[in-house]
Order: sequence, then C-alpha cells, then structure tokens
Amino acid sequence: MLIRDAVPADLPALLEIYNEAVANTTASWDYDPWSPVQHADWYAHKMESGFPLLVASEAGEVLGYASYGEFHAKIGYATTREHSVYVRPGKQGRGIGQALMTAVVDRAREAGVHTLIGLVSADNVASLRLHAGLGFVEVGRLREVGRKFDRWLDLVYLQLMLS
Ligand SMILES: CC(C)(COP(=O)(O)OP(=O)(O)OC[C@H]1O[C@@H](n2cnc3c(N)ncnc32)[C@H](O)[C@@H]1OP(=O)(O)O)[C@@H](O)C(=O)NCCC(=O)NCCS
Repeated sequence: MLIRDAVPADLPALLEIYNEAVANTTASWDYDPWSPVQHADWYAHKMESGFPLLVASEAGEVLGYASYGEFHAKIGYATTREHSVYVRPGKQGRGIGQALMTAVVDRAREAGVHTLIGLVSADNVASLRLHAGLGFVEVGRLREVGRKFDRWLDLVYLQLMLS
C-alpha cells in the first residue's frame, strides 16, 4: 500500500468513497450525495489553500483518503485544523485509516499546525478507536446536536496537540 498526494484522476474514487459514507453511515452528517461539481470545488479549495489531501492506493485502486482543512474560518484559528479520513468499505480494519492519519499528522506538523481537531459521531466506534490509538483525547461531547437515520447523534470533539 502506498500513501501519496491525491491527483485529479483520483477524484471519482474519492467521491464514491465519500458518497457511500453519506448514504450508509453517520461518519458524515450530510444526507444527500455530493455532485461531481461540488466535489471538484472541495478539491480546488484544498489545493488553493495548500491543505494536504492524501490517498492510500494499492495496485492502482484508491482504498481511502485523509485530509485537513479549516477548523473555523476566522484568522485566529489558522494554527488549528480539522481533519477527516475515509476508507473504502471492504478495506476497513486493515490499518489503512491508521496509516493515512499518521501521514496527515506528519504533514500537519511539518506545516506548523499547532493542534488537530476531529469531530466524530459518538456512535462511530471505529473512528473513536482509530483516534485513541493516535493519541487524540476527547475534549468535549455535545449531546444530540445531529440527526440522521431518524435518530439523535452526539458529537465528540477529539484533539491532538502537535507542538
Ligand atoms: C474510521 C475509519 C477511518 C478507520 O479506518 P480503518 O482503516 O478501518 O481502521 P484501522 O484498520 O486503521 O484501525 C484503526 C483502529 O480502529 C479499530 N477499528 C477499525 N475498525 C473497527 C470497527 N469496525 N470496530 C471497532 N474498532 C475498529 C482497529 O481495531 C484499530 O484499533 P487498534 O489500533 O486499537 O487496534 C474507517 O473505518 C472508515 O472509513 N469508516 C467510515 C468513515 C468514517 O467513519 N470516517 C471517520 C469519520 S470521523
């Protein structure tokens, strides 16, 4: 497995992975799949902002991706970033999420990011476990701030200090 920077040719695979998570999981609190245009805008913003977008690939297949971006838009938050990570169903539980996140944390450190924040749905056991293994700690839990699949969702704030 190779961890590398994403290229435009990866976008259909990334969109497929994201939209599967939208349709079937609480990893994303979107309800509707993203269109290719919406996804291209997201990618353009990452590239223009100098944010990393890393993919895990094996034999030419994209297995997952991870990135970070703004935590909040205001300039005072610029040394804090919020990350995300998605692994293709069927490829989960093989260490790919951990490898992607380790690489994202390294990139964040190199870029001078002071702290990384992950916002995780409290029912997402795999993500909570992944983050705990990387040293993220729970710093907050908001009750029933989300709703999807006809149930309330709690939001867990996870934080890793980088410097
Ligand atoms: C969450 C996710 C990124 C984890 O990536 P992964 O490649 O499946 O996880 P890894 O194989 O690297 O395992 C990382 C840790 O999570 C644990 N884990 C993975 N899948 C798990 C599951 N279904 N249930 C419980 N723990 C799980 C592993 O045991 C490992 O923990 P350990 O280091 O204590 O042994 C992946 O499952 C995924 O993409 N899920 C859907 C999208 C999502 O939830 N994204 C995160 C949004 S916050």
